[in-house]
Amino acid sequence: MTNTGDTSLLRARGLRKDYGKANAHLRAVDGVDLEVAAGETVAVMGPSGCGKSTLLHLLGGLERPTAGEVRLAGRRVDNVGERAVARLRRDAVGFVFQAFHLLDELTTIENVELPALLAGRSPRAARRRATSLLEQVGLADRAGFLPSALSGGQRQRVAIARALANDPLVVLADEPTGNLDSAATVEVLRLFDSLHAAGQTLVIVTHDSRIAATADRLISMRDGAFVDETRLTGGTGLSRSTGLSGSTGLSGSTGDAGAAGGGLGAFAGLEG
Ligand SMILES: Nc1ncnc2c1ncn2[C@@H]1O[C@H](COP(=O)(O)OP(=O)(O)O)[C@@H](O)[C@H]1O
Ligand SMILES: [Mg+2]
Repeated sequence: MTNTGDTSLLRARGLRKDYGKANAHLRAVDGVDLEVAAGETVAVMGPSGCGKSTLLHLLGGLERPTAGEVRLAGRRVDNVGERAVARLRRDAVGFVFQAFHLLDELTTIENVELPALLAGRSPRAARRRATSLLEQVGLADRAGFLPSALSGGQRQRVAIARALANDPLVVLADEPTGNLDSAATVEVLRLFDSLHAAGQTLVIVTHDSRIAATADRLISMRDGAFVDETRLTGGTGLSRSTGLSGSTGLSGSTGDAGAAGGGLGAFAGLEG
């Protein structure tokens, strides 16, 4: 591992992504510098097409930048080999997408345990972790259901549980409430708020100002670049009193999760 000598967990420098060639040239991300501290929640907002998804893909190693670099916990993400970046995505990054991207033929718990199985955990350990995560997102009683039997909000909570399966350093969420109605948005909002309170590092791209309000920092993006940044108080306060229990494995980043205690029991009553 290369140590960068700074404290940011996620760091991008001079990040650029071009699509197309010659006259069909498009600069989707145009010179982004970003530092995200461990335990920080950063929200990115901006009009459709301004490069938000591309930026998340670059940060999480789903795509390679045209120029610039990305480091996660000091490790280069942008220029390592295909196998190394695949391992990094699997072990250190949790992705949450607008369209959930659950595997339709797998049950809820099978979806959640899959990343742990792919990471080489024993079936028992993977199942135990998935069970605990489903409890945290209030869906323990849906473990055997197929995604098609769940509401949109429930599916996104399963997808969030899946993103947490390997205890990622960072969760990257791309318009996680973009397909949800208002009530389901509030469920997901509270879940992110609890993750934030438990010290999970989060980067959330969103159009929803309520989601953005859970962040420590709000960044505005236009035409591939950051144009404004606002420091917020961080968190809505909705879940400050509950937090996540120390047994979740979510407590690794800042260490205050154990003190928060309580677990996500509040979510058990959310589905209806
Ligand atoms: N794979 C791709 N090939 C070509 N152009 C792309 C590709 N992905 C995104 N783009 C373009 O890059 C720009 C930024 O897209 P995107 O990152 O998806 O924006 P946002 O998520 O903010 O809506 C858009 O103009 C989009 O059409
Ligand atoms: Mg997008």
